[in-house]
Amino acid sequence: MKAHIAKYSTVMESWFPLGGRGDTQTLFNAPTIIAITKAHGKSSAQIIIRWHLQAGNIAIPGSSNEKHIIEDASVWDFSLTDDEMSRLATINKDRRNANY
Ligand SMILES: NC(=O)c1ccc[n+]([C@@H]2O[C@H](COP(=O)([O-])OP(=O)(O)OC[C@H]3O[C@@H](n4cnc5c(N)ncnc54)[C@H](OP(=O)(O)O)[C@@H]3O)[C@@H](O)[C@H]2O)c1
Repeated sequence: MKAHIAKYSTVMESWFPLGGRGDTQTLFNAPTIIAITKAHGKSSAQIIIRWHLQAGNIAIPGSSNEKHIIEDASVWDFSLTDDEMSRLATINKDRRNANY
């Protein structure tokens, strides 16, 4: 899909980029993500947001918590390695959250 829409200068948006309200803890506590948080001294939310951005997706994380909003915007001072990007991609479950 990303390759197809790129032909039209269109970029995909990641809906529910942190897993969605009430459903963040599965991702936040995934062993692969926890391991990468320790390598960078960043939170799970920051690792996930950075993955979206490096994967070339638009990510608009939702938060009503000022501390979280500042944290979620602080993802420009580190990079994930190619190996970390690949490891994070293995979390993919090919799950559809909605049909349109
Ligand atoms: N157009 C549509 O129909 C549609 C449908 C789905 C989603 N979206 C868009 O997708 C975006 C996000 O959706 P979403 O808010 O449902 O899902 P989300 O971004 O995947 O998850 C939001 C949840 O993550 C928590 N969170 C955010 N930053 C955190 C942090 N640093 N540490 C711990 N928890 C953190 C938030 O809690 P706190 O509030 O406590 O921080 C909230 O419970 C929005 O822009 C939304 O508009 C649009």
